[in-house]
Amino acid sequence: MDPASAAMNPSSAAMITSTLLVMLSLIFCFFLFLYLLCSLLPRAFAAGRAAPRKLSLPPGSMGWPYVGETFQLYSNNPDTFFALKQKRYGPIFKTHILGCPCVMVSSPEAARFVLVTRAHLFKPTFPASKERMLGRQAVFFQQGDYHARLRRLILRAFLPEAIRRSVARIEAVALRTLQSWDGRLVNTFQEMKTYAFNVAIVSIFGKDELSYLEELKQCYYTLEKGYNSMPINLPGTLFFSAMKARKQLAHIVAKIVSSRRKQRTNEANNDLLGSFMEAQEALSDDQIADNMIGVIFAARDTTASVLTWIVKYLGDNPSILQAVTEEQEEVMKKKEAGNEEKSLTWADTKRMPLTLRVIQETMRVASILSFTFREAVEDVEYEGYLIPKGWKVLPLFRNIHHSPENFSDPEKFDPSRFEASPKPNTFLPFGNGTHACPGNELAKLEMLVLLHHLTTKYRWSMSGYESGIQFGPFALPLNGLPLRFSLKSPVEDRAA
Ligand code: HEM
Ligand SMILES: *[C@@H]1O[C@H](CO)[C@@H](O)[C@H](O)[C@H]1NC(C)=O
Ligand SMILES: *[C@@H]1O[C@H](CO)[C@@H](O)[C@H](O)[C@H]1NC(C)=O
Repeated sequence: MDPASAAMNPSSAAMITSTLLVMLSLIFCFFLFLYLLCSLLPRAFAAGRAAPRKLSLPPGSMGWPYVGETFQLYSNNPDTFFALKQKRYGPIFKTHILGCPCVMVSSPEAARFVLVTRAHLFKPTFPASKERMLGRQAVFFQQGDYHARLRRLILRAFLPEAIRRSVARIEAVALRTLQSWDGRLVNTFQEMKTYAFNVAIVSIFGKDELSYLEELKQCYYTLEKGYNSMPINLPGTLFFSAMKARKQLAHIVAKIVSSRRKQRTNEANNDLLGSFMEAQEALSDDQIADNMIGVIFAARDTTASVLTWIVKYLGDNPSILQAVTEEQEEVMKKKEAGNEEKSLTWADTKRMPLTLRVIQETMRVASILSFTFREAVEDVEYEGYLIPKGWKVLPLFRNIHHSPENFSDPEKFDPSRFEASPKPNTFLPFGNGTHACPGNELAKLEMLVLLHHLTTKYRWSMSGYESGIQFGPFALPLNGLPLRFSLKSPVEDRAA
């Protein structure tokens, strides 16, 4: 217990004020994000569109002209907005957010329709400024042949056959991350971001000692700062610096590519860069740069948010933490007894079923990606409703994951519910269909490896932690979960 942190003091007041400020600026950025998203829209919302048949739009209200229901959405927790809508209108409804007419869908059947069976009718959609910053040729923005080719190259580097050989390297990154935590107050999310970044580097380049690594990191951080800023490209703005960093990143990647071309070693490169450079299907330097930056972007904050939530849920549920720790100690003991190789192996990570269920249940409850965006490329009929061409379509993952029909007592953190596999399209932490996450095996692997060392070596307590949730844009424990981790003493018994 830490009584000091329970009482209100000036520094916590200051912290609340700064949290509010951060929240307000995030809300502002989100408005801007939506505004930009919509300014891209063709005049799709113009009246008089000829539908092939007389179909009606899905139920729902469009709210006020122009602002639509933006205030209703952002005046409280977005979950409340979605849940209320779903209760009133059912699993498919229309709304209007800052100039964007959208259809939101929250049933497994509708998510399957949009993401899997009719994926060609719904293209990915992002604001132009984000596309420019990540790189126009990055995989997320593509549809059709170029997309299929890119995906093949990416998957080749992230399938189990490819990543099973990198377990020891990932473990080294995990140990380095954890080393400095003892007794220090750490921002869990920031630490997990560093971890996920370094694992991404290992999987892209095959190693993490790279001559340009520091430069690459610096550029990436500058890019990140500009990503959520106003897209005004004038000297002095964060956006301007980010665009500059973007150019530098492409330059660094080109240097790495050219030095690898010179090496021409016989060893097969199983990493992502190797896959991109493989003779027959080789990409151009620009395509490689856009997609490498894209993969780091897709890999880092997502994995770091999930890891942060796991630390929180384990802290909140001591009996589950105890069971996970026992499972991990078992893995450790087996290795010691069997005189096995000291570092973790792919086979070891398959002896962690309970830990895997904790990861799954965390991804369900926290649903860090509450929804994704698509845009109808033509008028589409679904269940007798019209989804007009140009409208945004949002599959609401979070609603699906919190539906009591699919998951009983949905707010309860209960990993045992994953002892039975979930029904198709009721559990979509990695999406589904043509754009589903190609990094999901790596994400699970790196989380298992970190949790192995975290639970066997460290203890942490949630007492005094003010619980709460922030969206920025991923769901995250308040302030990134600042915590104190301490090393367990070596003699400490498991029963203690
Ligand atoms: C727990 C961590 C992660 C979660 C929850 C997650 C979730 C997702 C989801 C839901 C999508 C699909 C988005 C959509 O359909 O619009 C996606 C796409 C993607 N993810 Fe992940 N992801 C994670 C980690 C990673 C990692 C480690 C990588 C690195 C390889 C990665 C690379 C990608 C890429 C490249 C795409 C775009 C695929 C495409 O458009 O074809 N993700 N991710
Ligand atoms: C999941 O719940 C939704 C309602 O939110 C329902 O429409 C759907 O049929 C359920 N699916 C399964 C597979 O239970
Ligand atoms: C993705 O959709 C297919 C086709 O409906 C289904 O068989 C599969 O189980 C879905 N995947 C997930 C993760 O639900």
